[in-house]
Amino acid sequence: MERYKIGILTGGGDCAGINPAVKWAVKTALDTRLAAERNTRYEVVGIRNGWEGLMSMDPANPSDPTHVLPLSEELVRTWDRYGGTNLGTSRANPYNPRNDVSKTVLKNIELLELDALIAIGGDDTLGVASKLAGEGASVVGIPKTIDKDLPGTEYTLGFETAMNVVVECVDRLRTTAGSHRRVFVVETMGRHAGWLALEGGESSGAYIILIPEYDFSMERVNELLLGGRKSGARYEIVIVAEGAKPAGGVEFVSDDRPDSFGHRALGGVGEFVARAIREGAGLETRSMVLSHLQRGGVPCAYDRRMGRYFGIAAADLVVAKDFGKMVAYRDGRITAIPLEEALAGPHLVDVETEYDTSRYNGRRTILRHGA
Ligand code: F6P
Repeated sequence: MERYKIGILTGGGDCAGINPAVKWAVKTALDTRLAAERNTRYEVVGIRNGWEGLMSMDPANPSDPTHVLPLSEELVRTWDRYGGTNLGTSRANPYNPRNDVSKTVLKNIELLELDALIAIGGDDTLGVASKLAGEGASVVGIPKTIDKDLPGTEYTLGFETAMNVVVECVDRLRTTAGSHRRVFVVETMGRHAGWLALEGGESSGAYIILIPEYDFSMERVNELLLGGRKSGARYEIVIVAEGAKPAGGVEFVSDDRPDSFGHRALGGVGEFVARAIREGAGLETRSMVLSHLQRGGVPCAYDRRMGRYFGIAAADLVVAKDFGKMVAYRDGRITAIPLEEALAGPHLVDVETEYDTSRYNGRRTILRHGA
């Protein structure tokens, strides 16, 4: 019987839906029917803390449990019920231009005798996966990010759970906003893409939604709010993505130190908008930043299901030795696309068809040719 060893790691920001994907990749690979069919003994190990696990392992002790965790069906049995990532994650980048340790990672993949590696992540993690694939590693990817900004797939794990958090928080804020006749500005995550703000705002019925794809004018925001008050509204909910900015302004950065992928932490636009409403429209306003609450909590039904489908599909790709691909969801089907396709720039809101630039809100309807 042949032996085939698969590694799984999760990198970048955690979110709900990752653990279900790990569980189902493991269950698929360890299915006894598969072993019999392929005359192969599959084995799966989890790499702890993303790429950091492969960067910092001790060559003299490659299966040190601080970096590597053998995954059995019994161990992962309940993982689909849990949020975050049980394998741990990091924003470590083996290709960091200031300290490139990609060769060490390739060597450690060999030391661990990994025949294949499944990387679960967003553009940064999958960018590393793609580069490693270019250097000969047998890698497949699973998309996850609450920003839902990877091109080539209509879904990335974590998005629906995060959106449910937005809806639940807005529902809670509505009662207090109404009691006090206040405007509430809610800042969501979403660095380049406004999906979470837009679809979270649409789902929760926000009055105004501000997204990174369209620079806003505070004059227009205040005009809309005062218009709402004139027509009898007691309160308003304004949702703003962390990456949104006023026309002529720049992104709001909360920490200037770049991480190993060169990103700086965003935050602060919500409070800026709240202050500008107070000063410009004279309305009592509070702001709140949902921040990492959106990444926490148990996966919703959709993330459990999509995690399952993506996990199974990734294991299938590995078994078929169809490497250099990312599993994806397109036109209602699970499929796979080349990793490079998933890295071809962020998938942004189409302002022409999906955003109302005059009402600062969502806009979806049947697209009519010539309309
Ligand atoms: O994973 C994407 C994301 O949630 C972004 O929306 C946000 O800007 C960033 O991660 C925050 O990351 P960190 O966990 O490093 O604060």
